Amino acid sequence: MDLPFVYGKSAKDEFFTDREQESKSLTENLKGLNNIIIISPRRWGKTSLVNKVANEIKQDKRYYVAQLDIFNCRTEEQFFRTYINAILKASTNKFEEFTTVIKKYLGSFGPKITLSDDSQSYEVGLGIEFKDKDYSQDEILDLPQRIAAERGKRFIICIDEFQNVNDYADPIGFQRKLRAHWQHHNSVGYCLYGSKRHMLLDIFGNYEMPFYKFGEIMFLEKIAKKAWIPFITTRFEKTGKHISDGLAALIVDKVEAHPYYVQQLAQQAWLHTQSDCTEEIVNIAHESIVNQLNLLFCNLIDSLTPKQINFLHAIADGVKNFSAKETLEKYDLGSSANIKNLRNAMLQRDLIDIIPGHSIELQDPIFTYWLKQQKP
Ligand SMILES: Nc1ncnc2c1ncn2[C@@H]1O[C@H](COP(=O)(O)OP(=O)(O)O)[C@@H](O)[C@H]1O
Ligand SMILES: [Mg+2]
Repeated sequence: MDLPFVYGKSAKDEFFTDREQESKSLTENLKGLNNIIIISPRRWGKTSLVNKVANEIKQDKRYYVAQLDIFNCRTEEQFFRTYINAILKASTNKFEEFTTVIKKYLGSFGPKITLSDDSQSYEVGLGIEFKDKDYSQDEILDLPQRIAAERGKRFIICIDEFQNVNDYADPIGFQRKLRAHWQHHNSVGYCLYGSKRHMLLDIFGNYEMPFYKFGEIMFLEKIAKKAWIPFITTRFEKTGKHISDGLAALIVDKVEAHPYYVQQLAQQAWLHTQSDCTEEIVNIAHESIVNQLNLLFCNLIDSLTPKQINFLHAIADGVKNFSAKETLEKYDLGSSANIKNLRNAMLQRDLIDIIPGHSIELQDPIFTYWLKQQKP
């Protein structure tokens, strides 16, 4: 039988829950071509939300929706190649159309087209020849605007893991180039999203950066417990098993409503359940996830300095004021001037999240639980 929960893949259809408010607001903004930036820690549901909204908008024939993930694009050239292919895929549906569009709009540098072995799929190949690099890039960046304007359509472009543009050889120059083009695109809306809050806030919230005030920033929250409970109980019932509301709530609490882990823990509990889930089963399921991750966490800890580990312990204990003398002593954190270094190092490693005006939080609830058990 099919498994009732999903994690590690974008959640869709019956695996997708909640997000009504967010879906509505995202749809309205994108259809109105307002640029949107979505930020949340990883595995909270950005990709799932954008996929859902993008698929709905695609049903409306007035819109083209291009989706690309630039996680694996390490250079500008890789970005441009992925970008062209996403635009072409969204706006053409036959090979002839694909080649016609390339000839018409990208003729000046005539990119190479690669066909798959069975000729079923095709894309613009690796060796895009940038004869005149700047000119070709201008053409590529303006492609969606030109296609949309000439065909009387609107283009929406969704770029996942956008913070990666900060890793390119000349990140500011690159961003300046994108912004210079994109701000003139009156038939195109951009949805840019990613996980590294500090990096994205620097890109979009820092007035010295090219993307300052490019669009509205949406901080995606976790999914509320009251949405999770009926989701979990219904998924159990659909497969002839049963879990009470109280135990569904326990699943949510044990992983602090973290979307990925809620689905994982629910799945593990479901697998252990014959017909009726019990508290013991939920606890066993939780332990099994902690055990699966044990080696990963051990390696992680091995790569940290003693003070960094102490700092994580303090966060896990809910400490708020890190510069207080008692805290510095109790957790052996060094001088208060050192806290900033610790914070930055842990941010770089993606282990913590700093919510402006709020406290520092560990990103991974299973890691937090594991860490608390490691205490001497
Ligand atoms: N709306 C949702 N309903 C149910 N589960 C979700 C939802 N959003 C996310 N999840 C769970 O979280 C996991 C990670 O979601 P994903 O969209 O990949 O997050 P992100 O893009 O923020 O890293 C999914 O595989 C799924 O288990
Ligand atoms: Mg994602």
